[in-house]
Amino acid sequence: MYEFAIAWEWLSFAVRWLHVVTAIAWIGSSFYFIALDLGLVKRPHLPVGAYGEEWQVHGGGFYHIQKYLVAPATMPEHLTWFKWESYATWLSGFAMLCIVYYGGADLFLIDRHVLDLTQWQAIGLSAGSLAVGWIIYDLLCKSPLGKNIWVLMGVLYVALVAMAWGYTQVFTGRAAFLHLGAFTATIMSANVFLIIIPNQKIVVADLIAGRTPDPKYGVIAKQRSLHNNYLTLPVIFFMLSNHYPLAFATAYNWVIAALVFLMGVTIRHWFNTVHARKGRPLWTWMLTTVIFIVIMWLSTVQKPPANEESSVAPAFRQFAENAHFSAARDVVQSRCSMCHAEQPVWEGIPRPPKNVKLETDADIAAHAREIYLQAGRTHAMPPGNITEVSGEERALLVAWFESAVEESRTR
Ligand code: HEC
Repeated sequence: MYEFAIAWEWLSFAVRWLHVVTAIAWIGSSFYFIALDLGLVKRPHLPVGAYGEEWQVHGGGFYHIQKYLVAPATMPEHLTWFKWESYATWLSGFAMLCIVYYGGADLFLIDRHVLDLTQWQAIGLSAGSLAVGWIIYDLLCKSPLGKNIWVLMGVLYVALVAMAWGYTQVFTGRAAFLHLGAFTATIMSANVFLIIIPNQKIVVADLIAGRTPDPKYGVIAKQRSLHNNYLTLPVIFFMLSNHYPLAFATAYNWVIAALVFLMGVTIRHWFNTVHARKGRPLWTWMLTTVIFIVIMWLSTVQKPPANEESSVAPAFRQFAENAHFSAARDVVQSRCSMCHAEQPVWEGIPRPPKNVKLETDADIAAHAREIYLQAGRTHAMPPGNITEVSGEERALLVAWFESAVEESRTR
C-alpha cells in the first residue's frame, strides 16, 4: 500500500524531530556542566567537602553553585538527576537507525559493490558492531591502559579509526559515517547508563546509610566524561554528514573520519581552556582550519572507476517491471539526470546531489520511493522546478510507484 510510504516518511520525520530535540537537551546540559566544572574556583570559606564554587548570572538572577567532591556529608533533600537527556537521545537515535537504515537497508545500508550482504546480515553487522564495540571500549577503559588518560585516549583513537575503516568495508559510505556516529554516541550514552549513573547511585546509597563514599567513583566518572567531552563534536559531524556526499562518498572517506575525530579534540580544547580561564589558545583554531582544508582536499581525490554493475537489485525489481516504468524513466532521464549523474552536466553541481544517481534502470528502480516523495507527491524536486516537470509527469511518477507497490502486494 502506498499510504505506507507516506506514513513511514512522516514517522521518520517525527522521530528525527524528537532525536534532534533530545540531543540538544543532552549536549546542551553536558556542555554546560563541562564549562561549570572547569570554571569552579577553590575558596577558603567553602563548606567541608566542597571542591569549588562559581557565580553565574542568567535569566534575571544570580546563581551560586558549589560542587561537592565526591559528595556532601549528608544526603540533600532534593536532588536533580541528568540522565534522561542521554537515554532519550540514544533511544530515538536507535529508532531512526531502524527506520532509515534497517527499513531501507537495500538502499541506504547495503552497497553491493562494497559487500554483497543480505538485509539481515547487514542489520546484524550494524547492531552487533554497536554492542561489541561498547564491550571492547569498556574493557580498554578498565584495563591497566586506563590508568593513564593520554595512553588510553591514543589507544581509543586507533580503535575508532579502525572502526571507521571497517564500516567503509561493509556498508555504503553514508551508512559507514552514520554508524561511526552511532557507535560513538552509543559509547557516550552507555557511559552514562552503565557507568556514571550506577556509580552515582552507589554514592547516594552510601550517603543515605551514613557511610563515606569511595572517591574512586568520582575518578571513574571523570575518565568517562572526558571521553564524552571530546567525542561530542565528531558525533554531530557524522550525524549531519549524510547531507554531504563529499564527506562520506569519496575514496578516502575513512581518512576523513579519522581527521574529524581530531577536530573534535582541537575545537573542544579551545573551549575547555577558555572555560578554565587558562588563556585563549588560538593555535587550536589554526590547527582545526588546516585539518579541515586537508579534508576538503582529500574529498577531491578520485577512486579509480569501479565496474558499475547495472542490473536491477531483486528488492527493486517490482519497480523496473511495472507497466509505467519506461514512461517514468523518460521523465527522470529528461528532468533529473542532468544533476543526478555520476558526472552531472548542470553548472555548479560537481557531484550527484546527496549522492542520488538517477541514470540507469537500476538507479531509478532503487530510488523509486524517493522519486515518488520528492517529485511525485511533492514538488521538492527539481529545485524550483527548474527543469519544468509538468503536472502530468508528476502524476505519472505517482502512478508508477503506487501501482508497482500495489502489484507487489497482490502478487
Ligand atoms: C538542478 C539540479 C537538480 C535537478 C534537475 C534535480 N535535482 Fe534532485 N537534488 C538536487 C540537489 C541540489 C539536491 C540536494 C538537496 C539538499 O541538499 O537538500 C537534490 C536532492 C535530491 C534527492 C535526495 C533528497 C533527500 O533529502 O535525501 C532526491 C531523491 C532527488 N533529488 C530526486 C530528484 C528527482 C526525482 C528529480 C527529477 C524529477 C531531481 N531530483 C532533479 C538537484 C537537482
